[in-house]
Amino acid sequence: DKGGYKHFMAKEIAEQPSVLSNALSAYVTEHGIALPDPGIDFTKIDRLVMVACGTAYYACFTAKYWFERLAKLPVEVDIASEFRYREPPISKGTAALFVSQSGETADTLAALRYCEGKADKIYSVVNVQESSIARESDLALPIHAGAEIGVASTKAFTCQLNVLLLLALKAAVERGTLSQEELEQILSDLRSLPGTLNAAMDRDADFANVSKKLSEARDVLFLGRGLMYPLAHEGALKLKEISYIHAEAYASGELKHGPIALIDKHVPVVVFAPKDSLFEKTVSNMQEVMARGGRVLLVTDSAGAEAAGAEAWRTITMPQVPEILTPLLYALPAQLLAYHTAVAKGTDVDQPRNLAKSVTVE
Ligand code: F6R
Repeated sequence: DKGGYKHFMAKEIAEQPSVLSNALSAYVTEHGIALPDPGIDFTKIDRLVMVACGTAYYACFTAKYWFERLAKLPVEVDIASEFRYREPPISKGTAALFVSQSGETADTLAALRYCEGKADKIYSVVNVQESSIARESDLALPIHAGAEIGVASTKAFTCQLNVLLLLALKAAVERGTLSQEELEQILSDLRSLPGTLNAAMDRDADFANVSKKLSEARDVLFLGRGLMYPLAHEGALKLKEISYIHAEAYASGELKHGPIALIDKHVPVVVFAPKDSLFEKTVSNMQEVMARGGRVLLVTDSAGAEAAGAEAWRTITMPQVPEILTPLLYALPAQLLAYHTAVAKGTDVDQPRNLAKSVTVE
């Protein structure tokens, strides 16, 4: 049931505020963050390895920034198909965490089995609780996204981010790198996030508008820095998979090491840049793009739009949220740009060619 929407993907994007608010209440109590038994003791580990495929991998990649910044915990992230055959050494004190919507992705499951008997503990973050990956973990944490029908992952991504952020916060408190007060502030910001996401859905028409232009492009670049770098990857993946437009993501700072050669007026460049601690740097990369005739779509907040919006080809202004929460909000532009571009091109949004919802063969 598409609930009145044209596609499952549109429904699942729009559902995110309510699904997230649900997911939050499953983990956040009056006393802080509560995990199902047997929980996770972050004081017992000195390293975390996170492994997944596709969008779930980009959720892990985002979480690396959170764990390192908030909890000062070293994190390695990898795609499962590489990890499983590389025979990476897993030292004692390493916990392994696998993220999978379906819980059945063959490479992710094989990576998990590789870690059995080597990692201190095996954890997973899944949507399907009765899945192989959940069964074979010491602790499986549900993301509570509800069934996801669209082949392109949307609400599962934000719900994966949600659980991973909560884990990073829990790790930070246990490891003494975040005070109870700071935790409570972030949790209170998180509680207002569903409302903010709802408000951000008002930008839907702006994204639909600019997507008509994107649908004419052959190539699109996505740029971001810090927490927005994994998001740029997620935006590029979404666009490729449902609109079939070639899209690549780069860390803004990497631009001048090669990809800037691609820039001309035919290549739209999507820049995710809330006015965070790295904003000025991203803006200077944006100016380098524009100096070479590139058309920049800047997705930012009102402070960012004021500082740099006038220079861009198009600017879409998102609500303002604390820096640590920006990935959860900027998932929306990543999804809406892909969705509307695909609709403008007339592709099969919910069932893109060559793709399956669950990849149970390697
Ligand atoms: C992209 C997408 C895929 C999956 C990937 C992993 O929109 O849906 O990249 O994220 O195949 O699937 P799970 O999470 O089921 O392991």
